[in-house]
Amino acid sequence: MTFLITAGPTREAIDPVRYISNRSSGKMGYAIAEAALDAGHDVILISGPVNLAPPRNSKFISVSTSDEMFDAVHQHADSADICVLCAAVADYKPAQVSPTKIKKRADGISLELTPTRDILQSLGQRQSRKFLLVGFAAETDHLEANAREKLHKKNCDIIVGNDARAAMETDENELLILFRDGEMKRISRAPKNILAYELVKIFLNSQQKCLTKKM
Ligand code: C5P
Repeated sequence: MTFLITAGPTREAIDPVRYISNRSSGKMGYAIAEAALDAGHDVILISGPVNLAPPRNSKFISVSTSDEMFDAVHQHADSADICVLCAAVADYKPAQVSPTKIKKRADGISLELTPTRDILQSLGQRQSRKFLLVGFAAETDHLEANAREKLHKKNCDIIVGNDARAAMETDENELLILFRDGEMKRISRAPKNILAYELVKIFLNSQQKCLTKKM
């Protein structure tokens, strides 16, 4: 099987030296990539800027902005059997990027932000896609309700929910996994690399079920 995995944050430029980003470490996505490789699968890892070494034997694509990640994902999605969009893509980017460094002024300044394109949703909208589509939901409140809403809105097969505060920049996580057919699974707090092995098994199992249904 071929896994396409996105990981890490994106950076949205304000000017040549400043950007908007978030605290994603990329650890969950890299752990899933390692677990899939260990199980003998092929991995395309599309990563924003993180302090982690690219997994050996993966096809590694380094990106910075949400637009670069969008293009890389769409370029490779059709060669994947399972797409796991784990990246913390910025939801907004500056409406204009200043070509020169913005000068400090005594009064305040306002930044106009415009929504980025939703990569997960754009894959969910693809007609007759053949890959299993997995999204992540990092929430600070109402995890189950928000994750369920994302599952439907973004038309994915699985949403993996976690607490944004507990998950970001840490080595551990706990997960709530929602499936398209209404099934739900909880995995209690564990190191991200242990969780990744469980997730890879769950994704493969769901992919097999989809294939059987289509046959
Ligand atoms: O809507 P929200 O950002 O919470 O959704 C999270 C899920 O959507 C994650 O799987 C993330 O990778 C994906 N996403 C995306 N493109 C965006 C925003 C989020 O693929 N612009």
